[in-house]
Amino acid sequence: MNEIIKFIKKTPKAELHVHIEGTLEPELMFRLAKRNNIKIPFENINDVKSAYNFSNLESFLNIFYQGSNVLIKEQDFFDLTWAYTLKCKEDNVVHTEIFFDPQTHINRGIHFEVVINGIYKALVKANKEFGLTSKIIMCFLRHLDEKSAFEILDQALVHKTKIVAVGLDSSEAGHPPRKFERVFKKAMEKGFLTVAHAGEEGPPEYIWEALNLLKVKRIDHGVQCLQNKKLVQKLLDDQIPLTICPLSNIKLCVFKKLKDHNLKKLLNNGLMVMVNSDDPAYFGGYINKNLIECQAALNLSKEDIKKLIINSFKSSFLKEDKKKEWIEKI
Ligand code: ADE
Ligand code: ZN
Repeated sequence: MNEIIKFIKKTPKAELHVHIEGTLEPELMFRLAKRNNIKIPFENINDVKSAYNFSNLESFLNIFYQGSNVLIKEQDFFDLTWAYTLKCKEDNVVHTEIFFDPQTHINRGIHFEVVINGIYKALVKANKEFGLTSKIIMCFLRHLDEKSAFEILDQALVHKTKIVAVGLDSSEAGHPPRKFERVFKKAMEKGFLTVAHAGEEGPPEYIWEALNLLKVKRIDHGVQCLQNKKLVQKLLDDQIPLTICPLSNIKLCVFKKLKDHNLKKLLNNGLMVMVNSDDPAYFGGYINKNLIECQAALNLSKEDIKKLIINSFKSSFLKEDKKKEWIEKI
């Protein structure tokens, strides 16, 4: 095996951008559909895989939300999360910060505590069994209204000890961050950290709004920032992390080919970027595959890979001493 691939595989990494519902592999989807007697619009696993051809974010989200329909009981959320933690172990991901979308489930009649407890218990087990550390981030669905976001925030307060931050995801076009300024203000007053998807497909203005109005600590994606010099300077000055998801960007046609991805440019500009998997069951790969394919397509050096991995810890919500401990091991 080539030396740089070995380095990618064996080095401890942090993942900062993964939707737990996006780790639902087709095999588990079928198993849960059967267990819960839920109809899914696929005959077999090949059928599922051939449906995973997306033209943009919206076309993916339609399939993604359908897939989530098989998640009903606490055990289902546990099994989903446990399966993801085993992928972390396989890829040497030692710390992960995962998103979940409670509104997707509440709107189907699934209770908040069913969702959060299933996820949380699997993460606790993974910590006990192989030392994986984790944080949970609750995302607001931006295609829904402010009222719905306030309601879900109230429910999250009951589980405050299990959730470190709030985020913003789903369809970006036509749903600017400013729509959630008041919700984020309340979330911060209650002690949550904040992140937001911005500049995945949407314009640089959405990144400005996430920074200035939502006061986020990290931008999820942010790949559209290079269109605006002043914005790049701001991201650079404040070393705002951008959680980049290369295979996701290709699958959702943000870039045509991995060779066209701006990851290397962002890195060379001195921006605080790292590599993540987003919705790995839908986009064809977890962290190592993202790193290995980027390395080949963009001719990343071992130093580039090292920088990306160090950035993953620097940008995490781990305590400073824990960050230092991991970075020293790299
Ligand atoms: N939800 C799951 N994956 C997403 C993505 N890539 N962008 C926005 N919302 C999402
Ligand atoms: Zn995402």
